[in-house]
Amino acid sequence: MSYLVISTSLDPESRSFLLAKEAHRLLCLKGKAELLDLRKTRLPLFTGVKSTSRSVKRVKEKIRKATTILIAAPVYNYDLGASVKNLIEHTGDAWADKTVGFMVAAGGKGARMAFLGLANSMMMDFRCLIIPNFVVADKSAFEGELIVEAFTNERLQLLVDGAVRLNGVSLPQQ
Ligand SMILES: Cc1cc2nc3c(=O)[nH]c(=O)nc-3n(C[C@H](O)[C@H](O)[C@H](O)COP(=O)(O)O)c2cc1C
Repeated sequence: MSYLVISTSLDPESRSFLLAKEAHRLLCLKGKAELLDLRKTRLPLFTGVKSTSRSVKRVKEKIRKATTILIAAPVYNYDLGASVKNLIEHTGDAWADKTVGFMVAAGGKGARMAFLGLANSMMMDFRCLIIPNFVVADKSAFEGELIVEAFTNERLQLLVDGAVRLNGVSLPQQ
């Protein structure tokens, strides 16, 4: 049973990547955890047909092998950025029965529920068990590369604790 943290922002100065990095560090204290940064594994845009791209195959395999996956994403236009949707469109069934959690970077405090649409779709499509501890951090949580806001660090710890408690718990369909 292993953890996978996926950072989906493609911004070279991504703040949600900093959340992903810290969650990965905390998870490594608990077990086997991998950090996947989509800036380093670029995926083609999903076209509606199964992709033959090697990067898609590699990422899909990592998702399939993990039991719990934490997704880090940016908020764009009151929703999550397109690259996380693109990832899920490419990898579909690999998400079946995973435990999944979210950590999100936003510009302000007006889009705190931006990830809920995607969380719901993952429950409906793939029977994912969604960890009910989320991290939503705005600019004030960061100074340079550091997460300086105590509240955000507490939320990250709660997310990781939830990931550990719910790892491998989701019920496969009969
Ligand atoms: C195109 C675009 C749209 C954005 N839309 C929102 C938004 O609707 N709400 C919000 O709080 N922040 C918004 N932001 C700010 C980002 O959420 C913020 O820059 C965040 O740090 C992005 O995550 P990242 O640093 O991991 O890429 C937007 C930024 C961009 C570039």
